[in-house]
Amino acid sequence: MTKNDAFLKDVNDGLSQNPKYISSHYFYDKAGDELFQKIMEMPEYYLTNSELEIFKEQSMEIIESFNIDKNQKFELIELGSGDGKKTQHLLRALLSQNYQFKYIPVDISTNSLEVITKNLENHFPTINIEPQQGDYFQVLDRLFTSNHPKIILFIGSNLGNMEDEVAKRFLSKISQNLKTNEKLLLGLDLIKSKEVVLPAYNDPAGITSSFNLNLLKRINTELGADFDLENFEHAPEYTEEEGIAKSFLKSRKRQSVYIKDLDQSFEFRENERIHTEVSRKYDDEVLKKLLLKSDLEISEKFLDSKNYFADYILTKR
Ligand code: AVJ
Repeated sequence: MTKNDAFLKDVNDGLSQNPKYISSHYFYDKAGDELFQKIMEMPEYYLTNSELEIFKEQSMEIIESFNIDKNQKFELIELGSGDGKKTQHLLRALLSQNYQFKYIPVDISTNSLEVITKNLENHFPTINIEPQQGDYFQVLDRLFTSNHPKIILFIGSNLGNMEDEVAKRFLSKISQNLKTNEKLLLGLDLIKSKEVVLPAYNDPAGITSSFNLNLLKRINTELGADFDLENFEHAPEYTEEEGIAKSFLKSRKRQSVYIKDLDQSFEFRENERIHTEVSRKYDDEVLKKLLLKSDLEISEKFLDSKNYFADYILTKR
């Protein structure tokens, strides 16, 4: 199956269901990457700055929690490396203390890997860096072939886009690949009030709205559909009880949308929604439940000054 076949199949499956659903995985084409970059710069999107503060202020303590001998070579593998803005603080601290490590950024986007590699080599001429392109679910297997101890980074609350069952499987898979005492640094957005969380997914400038609607744009250009973007609106939801921010695209009226590559029309009722994203929020209890069937345990936790975000150190038993 080519990339586009998978997209076509997922759109067909998702729009045929009730309620309708399309995975947030498909947000990230070139325009989507750029919009996400803008989201990270919004004042309402507290996640980035909260985690950045943790890396700026506590990199030394984080490194200590890795419990690694300075003479021992190790591999620092980052799943979904993005622009590396947060990680560079950790890398600087490791280099300044003469740790022996190879940094392996993993990302689906070749472009972002090239950018981060150039940037880091400019900033840190002595860094040993080996980028790996791929979907991190799939890349995991080929990453665990060397014998060096490993620290996995999975930050930015990227786990939050996975339904709990998927997250459990993902964490178990990482756990199975780690050896005793190896670690996963997991960055998670914490459960907090609606007043703080909802604006992060519903900014007044409408950037998140464009990000969500970009999915329909993609279906139009890549699959030959005729979604009228004016007839759909971004509709996010969050309650502190559930702790999950959800995004939807809501049909403003009763309408029919034709997708040429499927030669099929899809009917929308007025106010009918397409579910496009979950962004889960966490606390220790939620995380412990996800870890139940893995051999990972929480060994440390680093918080920002507002207690909005946590970087957990999970150790393989
Ligand atoms: C990249 C998954 C962390 O869910 O907060 C931002 C993506 N979606 N605004 C998140 C996102 C809407 C983001 N993650």
